[in-house]
Amino acid sequence: MSHVPELEKIPADVVNLADYTTHARERLDDNAWAYFSGAAADELTLQANRTAWDQLHLYPRVLRALTGGHTRQTLLGRTLDHPILLAPVAFQRMAHPDGELGTAYAAAAQGAGLVLSTQASTSLEHIAQAILKDEGRGPLWFQLYLQHDKVFTQELVQRAEAAGYEALVVTVDAPASGARDRERRANFKLPPGISAVNLAGLPNPPTASLSPGQSTMFDGLLTTAPTWSDIAWLQSITRLPILLKGILHEDDARQAAQLGVAGLIVSNHGGRTLDTAIPTAWALPRIAQAVGPDLPLLVDGGIRRGTDVLKAIALGAHAVLIGRPYVHALATAGALGVAHVIRLLRDELEIAMALTGCATLQGITPAVLFQRP
Ligand SMILES: Cc1cc2nc3c(=O)[nH]c(=O)nc-3n(C[C@H](O)[C@H](O)[C@H](O)COP(=O)(O)O)c2cc1C
Repeated sequence: MSHVPELEKIPADVVNLADYTTHARERLDDNAWAYFSGAAADELTLQANRTAWDQLHLYPRVLRALTGGHTRQTLLGRTLDHPILLAPVAFQRMAHPDGELGTAYAAAAQGAGLVLSTQASTSLEHIAQAILKDEGRGPLWFQLYLQHDKVFTQELVQRAEAAGYEALVVTVDAPASGARDRERRANFKLPPGISAVNLAGLPNPPTASLSPGQSTMFDGLLTTAPTWSDIAWLQSITRLPILLKGILHEDDARQAAQLGVAGLIVSNHGGRTLDTAIPTAWALPRIAQAVGPDLPLLVDGGIRRGTDVLKAIALGAHAVLIGRPYVHALATAGALGVAHVIRLLRDELEIAMALTGCATLQGITPAVLFQRP
């Protein structure tokens, strides 16, 4: 097999996920930092995601028997050791030379699910080959941005199927990029040698042929932006289960459920698309109520603590994803850092379960959240 990432050192002062962010700030240049850490516009949703988890208070129970407890969860027919997955994050070779490969080895070593971005800077086949045979690995999913060119999209899906990906995560909250002020201030550019390699050969988008006075948004980009009928089309061309990522409104959740999708990811793209969109901790319980307990429901955005994971489960999520924390760990200590982040979060989840009196994820109910009178 090709290059196996080298193990680096975990800095001695890292005890939680946020500590990796401090180290990443020192290691990444301004260009990469703006990309990996920033969000849209005033970054209010980025902050609100965090605040919303913090403002939920726990209502612990004591003296319960917790012997035999565990963090196992069933998701799309597989039993996971724990409910933590790595969210799709583009261009990871800008964070560390090992990029997505380092992340993939770490995820597999820790039994965490991995969602590879369409805009990964490593080929999707390479990642699948590296970890597919690892028996302890978590699920391997491919995040799909539906492209303006349907033939290209279909070929990309076929590649993901052939490589062994087990589900498609279709991101639906980014028909356009957000207004990324931080990136524009940093004059963000992809460094030479880093690109969305899985999109190589994609024909030019229609914006290329706009006349002056036309809107690049409405006359260009959005003329081919995906709609509900494209989800139905995708279902017709793939045997893989499809999850929609980027759902915040319960009516969209209902519509997706009616289409027969395999799951939903409640997400606001980590605040990187629509600023002032609601925090995911607010959207989650409404969506859980709308679709019921049987449709697999995941959530991301601002999850940094084991207590956040517990709160997400209490609000109806079956599993959670993290984005920035593991990329900051990748930048700091490569694959070892990513593995450490997953382990830290899992350990914190177990502590939170012990201290709230919950032996299993299935036993975590809304009763663990305090409802203020
Ligand atoms: C640098 C960066 C790149 C991202 N790239 C993608 C992507 O390619 N596809 C996607 O669906 N989401 C992408 N996301 C969103 C994440 O999948 C996830 O929704 C978000 O990071 C979760 O929030 P958190 O970073 O607060 O944990 C990206 C996020 C970041 C921070």
